[in-house]
Amino acid sequence: MKLAVIGTGYVGLVSGVCFAQKGNEVICVDLEQHKIDMLNRAESPIYEPGIEELIALNLEAGRLEFTSDLADAVRRSDIVILAVGTPSLANGEANLSYIEQAAADVGKAMNGYKIIMTKSTVPVGTNEKIKDVLARHTSLSFDIVSAPEFLREGSAINDTLHPDRIIIGLDNTGLRETMVTLHQVFTDKIYVTDIRSAEMIKYASNAFLATKISFINEIANICEKVGADVTCVADGMGMDKRIGSSFLQAGIGYGGSCFPKDTNALIQIAGNVDYEFKLLKSVVEVNTDQRFMIVSKLRESLGQLNGVSIGIWGLAFKPNTDDIREAPALEIVETLIQAGAIVKLYDPIAMDKFKERVDHPNIMWCSSPQQAAEGSDAVCLLTDWEEFKKVDLVQLASILHKPVLIDGRNVFAEEQIQGSGLEYYSVGRPRMSGWNRDKVEV
Ligand code: UDX
Repeated sequence: MKLAVIGTGYVGLVSGVCFAQKGNEVICVDLEQHKIDMLNRAESPIYEPGIEELIALNLEAGRLEFTSDLADAVRRSDIVILAVGTPSLANGEANLSYIEQAAADVGKAMNGYKIIMTKSTVPVGTNEKIKDVLARHTSLSFDIVSAPEFLREGSAINDTLHPDRIIIGLDNTGLRETMVTLHQVFTDKIYVTDIRSAEMIKYASNAFLATKISFINEIANICEKVGADVTCVADGMGMDKRIGSSFLQAGIGYGGSCFPKDTNALIQIAGNVDYEFKLLKSVVEVNTDQRFMIVSKLRESLGQLNGVSIGIWGLAFKPNTDDIREAPALEIVETLIQAGAIVKLYDPIAMDKFKERVDHPNIMWCSSPQQAAEGSDAVCLLTDWEEFKKVDLVQLASILHKPVLIDGRNVFAEEQIQGSGLEYYSVGRPRMSGWNRDKVEV
């Protein structure tokens, strides 16, 4: 099929490349010419493992094009995918101006019947608004489909090529076969529903995953007080199929471009119909508080923060991405600086993005985990990059001024800590446990 994808952010670019990989002819459109120039050289404006290889392959095969000419791309396509950003407004609502503008531009460019498929995350009812915008700009016929995207940064290609399920929302049931044919190259698990339910599935899924994270983080906080180990608790809970083991990793809370934005948007969506989503409000509040757990532990171990130097390992909101949007590191670093600490920052790839957001004389930019640790009063691990898991902990203790390691992601096992000489704090686990945590299957 011939597809135009409007927007080359995470969702648009990854979807476009994966549709091309499965044999479709895809034209990706972005208004920013410098992004198009990069993409035409097979350079990706986003960091995503494996994407540049797939771009190069599909450019070479002639199945993938990049252009800033939206009208031409729309005219040459049967299906137009809307994948522009829906960032948060100050009140938490999704900003729909980009998607409405894109819909207007598509309407103006149409030269015949098109299927308009929305992949951007949009509040319930938005696809109907998109329909109205299109109808104002064209007299030609079209259909609207909602196809929310569930890819994760860092594993976006794999998530798109091998999804758990695909959700399709449509009101013209005659489109079912076309949509199933387009998507069944990825999976047979295709759930077709109405447009409003499809829009809601996306928000409900992200809100539920965020809820699991805040739930296990609160359990972790209680574990610390009652002397239990949250990793064992999560393992034991996860063995129940009804609960599932994923998204039960306690830590310093979720960040990124989706969970914070989508939870706040869903609270607003509910509020707009006079429903207070109390549970989700608490999820957000717990997540905000959890970030400061690191700072409390530093105070507990060092006594005060004024004048101390703290090595920070990891700035990205999670590993395998350079994305720092809503990363817990942003608030943690700012809080430490305000308290008078010197912060020595290191991340394998997110340093440049972080520098664009935060700058202060108390910041020292480091080129290795060791440099951030050398002479510091403590090291805080904020992102669970593989690189940190391989650090020699005995050597770490020897280069620190005070041998304090605060692990915000529960990366290290107790066996690794024993004998290292480190004073080790993690999340929801005893400070130094000698218990046997092996699972006994009966
Ligand atoms: C998420 C959803 O998973 C994806 O389906 C949706 O399309 C976009 O939002 P993403 O933001 O890329 O994807 O990252 P994800 O891997 O889900 O992690 C989100 C945040 O939760 C990260 O900050 C991560 O560190 C945190 N997290 C995740 C935990 O703290 N504990 C967990 O058990 C899992």
